[in-house]
Amino acid sequence: MKEQRVIKVETPYGLVEPVVGKLADREIVFMSRHGRNHVTPPHLVNYRANIWAIRELGVRKVLATAAVGSLSLNFKLGELVLLDQFLDFTKNRPQTFYEGGQKGVLHVDMTEPYCTSVRRGILKASEQIGLPVKNGACYVCTEGPRFETPAEIRMFQSLGADLVGMTSVPEVVLARELGMCYASIGMVTNEAAGIATHPLSHAEVMESMKELGIKVARLVQSTFELCTPDQNCLCASGNREVGKF
Ligand code: HPA
Repeated sequence: MKEQRVIKVETPYGLVEPVVGKLADREIVFMSRHGRNHVTPPHLVNYRANIWAIRELGVRKVLATAAVGSLSLNFKLGELVLLDQFLDFTKNRPQTFYEGGQKGVLHVDMTEPYCTSVRRGILKASEQIGLPVKNGACYVCTEGPRFETPAEIRMFQSLGADLVGMTSVPEVVLARELGMCYASIGMVTNEAAGIATHPLSHAEVMESMKELGIKVARLVQSTFELCTPDQNCLCASGNREVGKF
């Protein structure tokens, strides 16, 4: 990224400080959802401020990455996986910009939560650079910040979850509410609790992220270079029933 700088964006939900710069002669916004230095735990991330801020900056396509634990033999440590569905087990997070009254009420469609068009772009980029990405996994979002119990993991498996993480919800929902395309690449950092034969730790996740972060950055960059900014999918009309307030 060239001409990299930190900017301040005021939103109705608080101040956000994303990094902006240029890649392939186009503007790109880089947002660390946990804040710079990873200081904000997943249940306290200001998801609405983050998503609002990047929309205000003109972003229409979001390429997210997320550390995930694996619940399935199909997804192994160190793999990259495109999410295609989610189960929401968060407990205490604002999930909408539409809070009734003047703002209206929106029951946003989640039939295809992760943009199929951006996902195709990621797959094409992955082929071009020879970096494999598995296509399609059901992500269960937990509230955290604790890891899950093995009993919870067994329950999530029986419900059809493949991967577990703590951040994709409500991020993916809020992006759709503002008409943005959103896709997420899961980075398998660990086996989920009870599948792993040892206790889980944040250090283990962060250690796996070192290598995976480099891989995923290459993939994000190639996808960005390949994708056009225009939206040729249904995401842009996510809030057509009520419009932007
Ligand atoms: N559980 C929840 N979130 C996670 C995990 C996990 O095992 N690994 C990375 N993020």
